[in-house]
Amino acid sequence: MIKLPAPELFGKVSLEEAIVKRRSVRQFRTQTLSREAIAQLMWAAQGVTDPLKGLRSAPSAGALYPIDLYLASSDGLFRYHARTHSLEQFVENDVRPSLAVSAFNQDSIAQAAITIIIVADYTKVKDHDGERGVRYTDMECGHIAQNIQLQAVVLGLASVPIGAFQTTDISATLELPSALEAVYLLPVGYTQ
Ligand SMILES: Cc1cc2nc3c(=O)[nH]c(=O)nc-3n(C[C@H](O)[C@H](O)[C@H](O)COP(=O)(O)O)c2cc1C
Repeated sequence: MIKLPAPELFGKVSLEEAIVKRRSVRQFRTQTLSREAIAQLMWAAQGVTDPLKGLRSAPSAGALYPIDLYLASSDGLFRYHARTHSLEQFVENDVRPSLAVSAFNQDSIAQAAITIIIVADYTKVKDHDGERGVRYTDMECGHIAQNIQLQAVVLGLASVPIGAFQTTDISATLELPSALEAVYLLPVGYTQ
């Protein structure tokens, strides 16, 4: 378990500047990200912003939080634990090339320093809200992805949201339990 540094809450880039500068970028340098940058991205995605109520950086229907975040880098594969703001490593190989193949050879995944994988547990919301819960969960993935992309801009990084991939192949690479399904892949890194 790797405890991540606390997030910076006062960035130097305005929200408006981040919005205007956000672009999908598909070419990355191999330069790795600092632990601080990774911590900031994970916090923007799903960090706890109200510890008393357990609420997070992105809205969630009924505050059910049916999303898990995985992170792939050259060091291996990690799961993010929002409540402790930490990463749990469970694979030591670099799975980014395998993820890229599962995404129809989208090379950005293998190139970028990290790829964040947004994974949904649809069973959590189906039990609560039925089929509508599935829609809510997909909406929530969009909220999280946008937070990641805007935070990336603030950190001087680039990203691309990837929805085109073979879901079952990604599940196998990530060793996902059967209830979980990858919804979005976000390569994040320094652009060329
Ligand atoms: C749901 C969704 C899925 C996407 N999937 C991919 C993808 O698989 N590969 C890719 O390169 N870009 C993908 N994109 C990025 C779009 O191509 C991109 O947002 C669009 O061209 C507009 O450019 P911009 O993001 O720079 O504004 C996806 C975007 C969305 C919203």
